[in-house]
Amino acid sequence: MSRLLVNGGNELNGELRISGAKNAVLPILAATLMNAGENILFDCPRLSDVDAMIEILRAIGCKVEFNNSMMRVDSSVLSSHEIPEDLVREMRSSIFLMGPMLARCGKIKISYPGGCEIGPRPIDLHLKALRQLGVEIKEAHGFLECEVIDLKGTEINLDYPSVGATENAMLIAVMAKGTTRIRNSAKEPEIVDLQNYLNKMGAKIKGAGTSQIIIEGVQKLSGVEHRVMPDRIVAGTMLVAGAIAGGEIILKNVMVEHIKPVISKIREAGCMLIEEGNSLKLKSTRKFNAIEVTKTLPYPGFPTDMQAQFMSLMTIAQGTSIITETVFENRYKHVDELIRMGAKIKVDGRVAVVQGVKRLTGANVTAKDLRGGAALVLAGLTAEGVTIVNNLKHIDRGYDMIDKMLRKLGAEVYRMN
Ligand code: UD1
Repeated sequence: MSRLLVNGGNELNGELRISGAKNAVLPILAATLMNAGENILFDCPRLSDVDAMIEILRAIGCKVEFNNSMMRVDSSVLSSHEIPEDLVREMRSSIFLMGPMLARCGKIKISYPGGCEIGPRPIDLHLKALRQLGVEIKEAHGFLECEVIDLKGTEINLDYPSVGATENAMLIAVMAKGTTRIRNSAKEPEIVDLQNYLNKMGAKIKGAGTSQIIIEGVQKLSGVEHRVMPDRIVAGTMLVAGAIAGGEIILKNVMVEHIKPVISKIREAGCMLIEEGNSLKLKSTRKFNAIEVTKTLPYPGFPTDMQAQFMSLMTIAQGTSIITETVFENRYKHVDELIRMGAKIKVDGRVAVVQGVKRLTGANVTAKDLRGGAALVLAGLTAEGVTIVNNLKHIDRGYDMIDKMLRKLGAEVYRMN
């Protein structure tokens, strides 16, 4: 089991380029199925979730090459509509394959995505939208067998602006007859990136980034080249790293607009942030104010994917901070681990109360999920002595070598097998 060793206390200084976004590249990779042709993607991050998606694409007949950060997917020939169960269990995002496979082949057999570490994460909204678009879905023995009966544009009113359900509905609607309107759609920037990618292929979609997406169905899609948008959560995580460790860092390849809610909280905490085009400079003196209200919300609210990292910062702020997680249940698994490092945190349902302490101390802790794992690494940067973060596999799902990124800025973070 891989682990990270973090020797706390170093300031962070220097420059870092932010890689392409995991949450953009995963649905885009699923969409490569749709054009029966060549797809070239630039700025693909090397993540275990991306590797899992590549394995799935290969298992159903695609040819995939991945060199440095460039990926080529040839989806001319598909050999199967069944997604291997072990690969689906490895990665929840395999449900993004439903829309594209149904659009291209008219059927898919896929197991229910495996249990997830941040709460139950149901897929009822995905299934409801697919049914509304004319898909018959049989659920039995842990599998979903789906078949297109009559793929027709329709009006979908999402009960909640789910990112994944918006993307799945959008993907299949690209090839439905007529017009589809998705109301109360999620507004995350990754959905805009998916829209841009699909439109380059020949789809007719508008409205991504707002609460109503309109899709005119088309019959044929063509080959495409696309650069994946920068990862706003990796950028946010590195900002908190710079804040918590102190020093002066510059992040390049950042869509500043996408991380405004994180920027404003880091400023509220007392750090100086200068925005310059696509780069961000952060200066931190390691003195932080507590923040009374942080509430996770769908975009453009404060992202749930930054809640854990932000909590690490609040553990050493002056005063008491209150964090409310409204998006996912059970997304506080990092709390017990932070407490092992000396943090004072109490959780009651969806609310966490963090009472700032003078310092954290290094400890042996375990990553229970992706962002919670990253939060422990950040806490290790400021803790006295050595922190060991076990279960690195969770962190590798979403960060392209977090140890290397942090070492580049001057931290002592090492991978141990
Ligand atoms: C995506 C992101 C994830 C991020 C999340 C919220 C990807 C690959 N992952 O996940 O990093 O944390 O958005 O910003 O893009 N829900 C239902 N039924 C459904 C679908 C969702 O009840 O069918 C609920 C979920 O349990 C959760 C909420 O809706 O409480 C938000 O989930 P959703 O927006 O769908 O997140 P994901 O697309 O899974």
